[in-house]
Amino acid sequence: MFGKKTVLDVDVTGKRVLVRVDFNVPLTKNREVADNTRIKAVLPTIEYLIEKGAKIILISHLGRPKGKMDDAVRLDPVAECLSKLLGKHVQKTDKTVTNEVKAAVGQLEDGDVLLLENVRFNPGEKKNDPEFAQQLALLADVYVNDAFGTAHRSHASTVGVTNYLPAYSGFLLEKEVIELNKLLESPDKPFMAVLGGNKVSDKIGVIDKFLGIVDVILTGGGMCFTFLKAKGINIGGSICQDDELEHSLRMLKNAKEKGVDFLLPVDVVVAEGLSDDTRYKVVSVEDIPKGWMGLDIGPKTIEIYKNKLEGAKTIFWNGPMGVFEMEPFSCGTKTIASVIAESQATSIVGGGDSDAALRKYGFEEKVSFVSTGGGASLKLLEGAPLPGVEALLDR
Ligand code: 3PG
Repeated sequence: MFGKKTVLDVDVTGKRVLVRVDFNVPLTKNREVADNTRIKAVLPTIEYLIEKGAKIILISHLGRPKGKMDDAVRLDPVAECLSKLLGKHVQKTDKTVTNEVKAAVGQLEDGDVLLLENVRFNPGEKKNDPEFAQQLALLADVYVNDAFGTAHRSHASTVGVTNYLPAYSGFLLEKEVIELNKLLESPDKPFMAVLGGNKVSDKIGVIDKFLGIVDVILTGGGMCFTFLKAKGINIGGSICQDDELEHSLRMLKNAKEKGVDFLLPVDVVVAEGLSDDTRYKVVSVEDIPKGWMGLDIGPKTIEIYKNKLEGAKTIFWNGPMGVFEMEPFSCGTKTIASVIAESQATSIVGGGDSDAALRKYGFEEKVSFVSTGGGASLKLLEGAPLPGVEALLDR
């Protein structure tokens, strides 16, 4: 099922092990880690390497600093958070590859953990520059990738470096690939996908793939307005991707041909503006007033989706049903999250905003699996190869 060598297939004792992790975590205004889920998720790999007496060199990106240093996305708060979680000091360098970094690596004792500075401060990272990849590789004897959230990126620290070091998977990456692949290979039926979020373009690949696998697709969030408009419904001032209208109509047709029940909202919460104190009301999708924008699914839709999901044996959820960060538009996301959490079905949640919603309402422990990768999980479910996984040694 997972045809790649893992960290269990290599003797790491006394070796310098470069571990790519995804510590792209939200920070508070005071620059503290606001959500440590992604950091906790790689603890099993780090703890295993500590126990085996490896010299651990962690490498990650944070944000999108465009190839130059940016104090706002230095990794110091992450090093602090990781130290607390491990109960062990994690040293951090101010650079990613310099003599100072080489010296810090040279001083590592077996079981020590060192975190390098944000890898995206270097322009060579996103370009997958061979010279930069080689510089990274020179720091270590073995490479381990445990950054599932970044596995869809072909960068120096996820792909280039594997040209110069023997490359293995960490425990998180392996688990993510196995759990998500189960959805494509052997889902218990009926299999239902709840898809939301803003952009229909992000979901096209996965919808195309799912039309051959799922029984029901339930849509919400900003993306459903592109489908509604494609059907000729007046969506007022709601968000819409006009360049995806034709494609959306084609997807609705394909769904019909393949017998997939493709549900769109029948009512929505509309508002005059995007703020907590704006005027808002519930209307049928046929009656969205001019200039008003749809910001959540309505109560009738929630009821229909609830009833439908009760019959599911497998549920995949990616993307909120509305602007759940604002109270007046949170009901759809909150209710659907609770229905998925209470369901007896196998429930898999794609990372990003749906994960944030689950945590906001305290349901994260109640679903079968929450992926740490938003974009990466969608890519995998589209059936696209993930460069960061492909590059690892075959079993
Ligand atoms: C994510 O948060 O989805 C990953 O860390 C990848 O980040 P990116 O979209 O900036 O490459």
